[in-house]
Amino acid sequence: MSLVRQENSVDRLIGQFDTLLRTLVPGAAQPYRPNPAQLHEQPDMTEEERRHAAGLMRINHTGEVCAQALYQGQALTARLEAVRDQMTLAAQEEIDHLAWCEQRLKELDSHTSLLNPVFYALSFGIGAAAGAAGDKYSLGFVAATEDQVCKHLEHHFEDLPAQDERSRAILRQMHEDEAHHADWALAAGGIEFPTPVRKVMTLMSKVMTKSVYRI
Ligand SMILES: [Fe+2]
Ligand SMILES: [Fe+2]
Repeated sequence: MSLVRQENSVDRLIGQFDTLLRTLVPGAAQPYRPNPAQLHEQPDMTEEERRHAAGLMRINHTGEVCAQALYQGQALTARLEAVRDQMTLAAQEEIDHLAWCEQRLKELDSHTSLLNPVFYALSFGIGAAAGAAGDKYSLGFVAATEDQVCKHLEHHFEDLPAQDERSRAILRQMHEDEAHHADWALAAGGIEFPTPVRKVMTLMSKVMTKSVYRI
């Protein structure tokens, strides 16, 4: 192996490790855009409402941990030369989402999920497998995942305590970004995943949401 290639591999490995730390260490992710929650006052909430809002925001935060891992896994195995810039931009937006959800969890006097390393590892493996299968599968997987995230977010708009506009503002911006990510991935040549694959994905997301709401 030439020295240049060796250096490239080492650089990439360091980059991967840096993202892993920024994703999993609380407070390490720095957003690129201001937090949309800033536009709203801190709402009065009962203890029960606060705990419920925190459970939902913890699910959203773990979803963003999975998104980071997915992009990292794909970056390892996919070619994606034509869409690499777009993918980097999407990954940056996911870091905003991750940081905003974490900030909101802190305001709600709560914490990110203890299960995050498990979900990071699982999503990294899935991303790497999709990337190795080929770019059209990899992009199709991004689109299918983002669709599912959008559905979750729509459900959370309703489910959050009515007065919690701070959390809702974050989810609104996330929804806009995720819908873009899905459109872009399909436009770039991603395949539409068949229903059975989507069903397995729904099942996995159910396991995640049920466990992360509390832990
Ligand atoms: Fe996101
Ligand atoms: Fe996204």
